[in-house]
Amino acid sequence: MTKPRKIIFVCLGNICRSPSAEAIFIHKIRDRKLDHLFKVDSAGLHNYHSGENADSRMINHANKRGYSLDSISRQITRNDLQEFDLIVAMDNSNLYRLKEMATNEQKTKIFKITDFLSDSVYSEVPDPYYGGYQGFEDVLDILEAAVDALIDTLIKE
Ligand code: 4NP
Repeated sequence: MTKPRKIIFVCLGNICRSPSAEAIFIHKIRDRKLDHLFKVDSAGLHNYHSGENADSRMINHANKRGYSLDSISRQITRNDLQEFDLIVAMDNSNLYRLKEMATNEQKTKIFKITDFLSDSVYSEVPDPYYGGYQGFEDVLDILEAAVDALIDTLIKE
């Protein structure tokens, strides 16, 4: 049997975007009966919220679409950059900071989630933390499309 691909989603605080990406990815691979192929996690570049549940606003918006956010925030480590096969950032700032932490070899595993969308108007998943209702809905809209595109790319490889 092939070894599961290890994927980690990364944002700033690991309480809004990356836990949502993780939950949506898990939901979709279960639906597509592909869950045996992947191991999924998420982390934040900052430790502001380490040990906390996901943001309650993000949890509520995600629950309404059938996604359950149960990850606990943690900060990304250099070991993660070694351990994971694919490191998926939410925005340009996340991408830049991850690449700063990574060795040249590790840099080849780092992508931005919107890179997988071929015809999107979005080039990032905008940070919803200081915004309102629509910001959280936008996060889920972009992630649902981008995660589908990511899974399609991975199963073609
Ligand atoms: P996330 O959102 O990176 O999508 O988890 C944020 C969460 C917390 C903060 C910023 C963004 N913060 O400044 O505390």
